[in-house]
Order: sequence, then structure tokens, then C-alpha cells
Amino acid sequence: MRPSIVAAALNPYQDKETLDALAKAGATAIAMEFIPRITRAQVMDMLSSQANLAGYRAVIEGAEAYGKALPMMMTAAGTVAAAKVFIMGVGVAGLQAIATARRLGAVVTATDVRPATKEQVESLGAKFLAVEDEEFKNAQTAGGYAKEMSKEYQAKQAELVSSHIAKQDIVITTALIPGRPAPKLVSAAQVASMKPGSVLVDLAIEQGGNVEGAKLNETVVTANGAKILGHANLPGRIAADASALYARNLFALSSLFTNKEGAFAPNFEDEILQAAVVTRDGAIVHPNLKTA
Ligand code: NAI
Repeated sequence: MRPSIVAAALNPYQDKETLDALAKAGATAIAMEFIPRITRAQVMDMLSSQANLAGYRAVIEGAEAYGKALPMMMTAAGTVAAAKVFIMGVGVAGLQAIATARRLGAVVTATDVRPATKEQVESLGAKFLAVEDEEFKNAQTAGGYAKEMSKEYQAKQAELVSSHIAKQDIVITTALIPGRPAPKLVSAAQVASMKPGSVLVDLAIEQGGNVEGAKLNETVVTANGAKILGHANLPGRIAADASALYARNLFALSSLFTNKEGAFAPNFEDEILQAAVVTRDGAIVHPNLKTA
């Protein structure tokens, strides 16, 4: 059998079985999750293209489950209060969730551990809420991702957001740390403090979830009448756009497989392929996976 290139969402940190099978088959496998965050590779960045849609869809799902209006409405028959929406984790998904909730007229607040997000949150017209100590000032890696925070920081963060969560109508959590389980950001006690009819949408559910009590592909209704939505694959709920953008990511990547004359000649020295190739010549070759 001729060796092939497989470029796909391989879930490389969690699905070792597939990586082993690809290595054994002699395939050169490219994990779309590992496309580096450099300007030239933005068009290939599947995590961004899909997270953006997930953030949008999370608000739509949250609003549907909430069942009340998001904007304030002053009518002759009375006033409808604006919904309060809190976004935890302000990466690509969180930013789109903020923008979507704002467009729908909700009162939006957001939190993250990366200092750079404060300005982004405020530029979207939402209010930023976080423990801004020394650890917070250094919480971003060179690649733009969050670091895992200390137990002490997480405790301070939980204390700060506790009274806030109790007042929210919709909480959307999107917090992830590459290669690690999702940080637990909302405890069962915090969920129990929420009003009946309030909704939590846990976008991190496939990495273990940010919300205590969230279950994969289930809507959990708690004793106090809050709903926790644990939908897997939110981009799949906006499938036409998700497929179109993912196809564009793959198409852009395929430009690295040909030379100027259009002949098949992948340049494995290219920094994008260097970062994203996970199996080659019968072995798992990515440094993050060999040590994991
Ligand atoms: P992600 O999906 O890895 O994580 C989502 C968010 O959760 C992040 O903002 C992270 O800081 C946050 N988080 C982690 N632990 C947390 C905690 N304990 N409490 C609260 N929040 C927590 O991140 P994503 O969406 O992939 O984006 C990471 C960064 O990369 C962003 O700044 C984004 O703008 C940037 N980016 C850069 C690109 C480029 O230059 N080509 C392309 C795409 C994104």
C-alpha cells in the first residue's frame, strides 16, 4: 500500500488509538488541531473556524432553553427585563458568544485568565470580571493559549464569580487548556444558587466540562430548576457553515502539498507541517505526544 497523507480533526491528546493505527498503516497524519497560530496559517485554523460557530450556536441554544426574551422590552403591557448572560472563557468561541448575546440585547459580562481578553471584552460592549493578580498577568503562553492556573487562583476566581453567577440567567462556559482536562469553573453549589429557569451551556463538555454536573449530550435539570446543556459538537448544529469553513481550512492546507508546478511534493520542512504532523514513517513523531 502506498503511504498516504491524512489531514483531519484527530483529537490527538485523547485518541491515541487512532494515532497508533495511522502510524502502523504508514500514513503521514496531520492533526488539524495542531495548525500553529501564525498569520500565514489562520486560513487553515480549524479550531478557530469551528469555535467561532460554536460560540454563536451556544447562545442560540442557551436562549432557546431559557425560553424568555433576551432584550429589554418596554411595552404598554409592561416591561420585559433584559437577560443577564455571563461568558466564562474568552477565546474565539467566547468572543463570538459575547458578540451574539450582545446583538440579541442581553446584558453581558465575561471572564478569562488571559489579561489580553479584558480589552477584547470591553471592545464588544461587555463588562470584564476577573481576579487580576500577578498570576493573571502571566497566564498567557507564547502561542496565545491559557496556562493551567494554580489551585489558589482557581479558589479566588471561584469566590469572585460566585455571587455573580447567582444573578445570571444564562452562563456559557468555553474554557480550555490545550492537552489538559477542562478547568472546573462552576461548582454544583454555584449551579444550585441560580434562579429556576436559568441555563448553563458547557462548551468544554467534550474535554470533561467546565460545569460540575454537566453530562455529555444531556440536558441536566437540577433540583433548583436550572438546566445544564452538555451538547457535544455544537458546530454540527450549524452544519452547513461548519462544513463550508472546515472545507476551506483543508483546501488551504492542501496548498502545502504541491510545488509551484502543481506536482505533488509536500514540504515537510514547512513550519506549519512541522507543527501539525503527528505520525510519519510508521511512528508517532510529534513532541507533545511522545512525552504525553
Ligand atoms: P481555547 O479554546 O484554548 O480556550 C478558550 C478560552 O478559555 C481561552 O481564552 C482561555 O484563556 C480560557 N481559559 C482557560 N482557563 C481558564 C480559566 N481557568 N478561567 C477562565 N478562562 C479560562 O482558546 P482559543 O479560542 O483557541 O484562543 C486562544 C487565543 O488564541 C485567543 O487569544 C485567540 O484570539 C488566539 N488566536 C490566534 C490565532 C492566530 O494568531 N492565528 C488564531 C486563533 C486564535
